Parts: sequence; structure tokens; C-alpha cells
Amino acid sequence: MRRKLAAGNWKMNGTTAALSELEALTRAFPSPTVDVLICPPATLLHRAAEAVRGTGITVGGQDCHAATSGAHTGDISADMLVDAGANTVILGHSERREDHDEQNEDVRAKARAAMDAGLKAIICVGESLEQREAANTLEIIGGQMSGSIPDQSTGENLIVAYEPIWAIGTGKVPTLNEIGEVHDFIRARLERRFGEGVGRSVRLLYGGSVKPSNAAEIFGVSNVDGALVGGASLKAADFSGIVEALEKT
Ligand code: PGA
Repeated sequence: MRRKLAAGNWKMNGTTAALSELEALTRAFPSPTVDVLICPPATLLHRAAEAVRGTGITVGGQDCHAATSGAHTGDISADMLVDAGANTVILGHSERREDHDEQNEDVRAKARAAMDAGLKAIICVGESLEQREAANTLEIIGGQMSGSIPDQSTGENLIVAYEPIWAIGTGKVPTLNEIGEVHDFIRARLERRFGEGVGRSVRLLYGGSVKPSNAAEIFGVSNVDGALVGGASLKAADFSGIVEALEKT
């Protein structure tokens, strides 16, 4: 059985005051029956890790460098994330692919570094609106998967997030059939590449405008094991609704 995961991506949001949202979340879910992960900005990571210590909630990073250390001003290594208290890192988010021109091979190198450091990697894939309208979605996702997911992946260290770019922060969500089609495709590709055992054990998250009001129906789709949530993870009240929906799935 794959353990469900509700992951929050705070992106470039939050200073010290935002830790109160995390504290509220720990009070709402002293022992969640699903995995609950918050990925705050790196500046808050250590304090966030302290805030959730001893609870069932964990924290993660939003990116890491492919190298373990060295002359890379402004970058953060996977070991540094571990040192700050992270157990997971989001990699290849479409905003990183766009803002920092990250290519599939960059994401793969980062994922290798993350896995070597003992982190779980949430590798993001997803098509643009133009690609969907041209009926290229599965081809794009397939290419991103083969390019970004390293060979050393297992059900323990890999999580794949399907995030259609046009659904991120827009309030637009694919139909349940569209989500199901992509998640079934990702599952089949993982099974083909890694074998049934590993392929079936990797968790698949949907991301893009997930809210308390649409979470339950999305979690009902086959091969959806949870969500990667941006905007609605910033407030404990909103994120709690999503965690509750996942606990009831
Ligand atoms: P959103 O972002 O929930 O604000 O649409 C999702 C994401 O980018 O992970």
C-alpha cells in the first residue's frame, strides 16, 4: 500500500510570522494518518523542522544543487537540506524549469544528489496549455520522466508530481478523466522502466490549484496518492481541509 502524502510548497512566501501556520497545522494534526510535508523557503527550513519535531509532520526543500559542496554562490546542497532537518526535496518544479532554465538532465543530476544524501525527491512533470491543446501531453510527460528520473529511484526515494503548468496558481484544474489519464500513464511508465514492484510503490501526486473544495474528488482518481499544493498550503486552515480530505480517501 502506498502511503498518502499531502505536500505543501510555500514557494517564495513566508518569513518568521508564517511559522505560526505550521504550528497551527501541528495542533490540528498531532498524529496524521497520512504523510504531511511542508516545503518552506530555505530561510525557514531549520526553524520549521524544529516546529514540527516530534509530530507526524515533516519538512522539505524546494530545490537543491547537484554538487555536494563548492563554489556555487547562492545554492544549497542536498546535504545542507538534510542538515537543516529536511527529509524531502521538490525538484524540477515548472517554476524552476522556467525561471532557471532547468533542463531534464539538470533535474536528474539534482535528484541523484538528493537521493545520495538520503532525501526523497518529488520530481515534477507537466505540460503547458499549448502542449495540451496540441495533444502532446503524454509525450511531454514521458520525455520529462525519462530525462529527469534517475536510475537509482525506488518507491522509497521517488515521488512523482503531475503538475500541468496551466493549472498552477490559476484556479483551473484538469477534468478528473484528464488527471486519471496522466496518472495511469505515469504509473505504466514507471512499471515498464523499474519493474512492477518499484513502479507500483512510487507515490504519484497531483498539483495545480488543489483546494479544500476540490481535493476529495481529485483524491478519488485512480493512481492519485496525494497532492502537491502551492497557494492553499500557506494557511493552516486551507491546508487542513486538504489533509482531512486525504485522510478520508
Ligand atoms: P498551486 O501551486 O496549488 O498554487 O496551484 C501548485 C504548485 O505549484 O506546486
